[in-house]
Amino acid sequence: IATFVTMGWLIATRAARGAHRTDDRPQDVVAAAIVDDGRVLLAQRAHPAELAGKWELPGGRVESGETHATALTREIREELGAEIEVAGRIGAEVTHPNGLMLYAYRARLRSGTPAALEHLDMQWFSADELRRLDLDDVVPADRDWIPELCAVLDDA
Ligand code: C5P
Repeated sequence: IATFVTMGWLIATRAARGAHRTDDRPQDVVAAAIVDDGRVLLAQRAHPAELAGKWELPGGRVESGETHATALTREIREELGAEIEVAGRIGAEVTHPNGLMLYAYRARLRSGTPAALEHLDMQWFSADELRRLDLDDVVPADRDWIPELCAVLDDA
């Protein structure tokens, strides 16, 4: 019995340590500023309830073994049904209250026409339209990126 108890304890503590390590590791989220014809594509989140209807740069979590660029290309294919070419970072990384680290990248369309496959809606915004956007209508983590997005569009 002592052997089984010891084995059980060992398995339980290892599982707990493993879970702890996973929880502690910051997870990366990547988001795409797809720029086309002087406008950037924003998508309206469908979930969770507190973010539903708010605008974001489309993207998602980086899975193990992926680079930021491969994750972003996959997420945009899944969410918008389009192929993109990922360019350099835009804005500073943002620490999400739940521990996620968010990174925005500039991107351009390679093929396909984006469609809101997983979002409520999507819309192309000019710099002026972005400046007029109410920040309450933008997901909190993405708000800091808006000024730099406007600057990129002004140069585009
Ligand atoms: O889109 P998805 O649910 O995979 O995103 C994972 C997390 O990253 C969510 O907590 C979401 O709120 C956050 N996120 C964000 N801004 C984005 C994309 C995702 O805050 N542009």
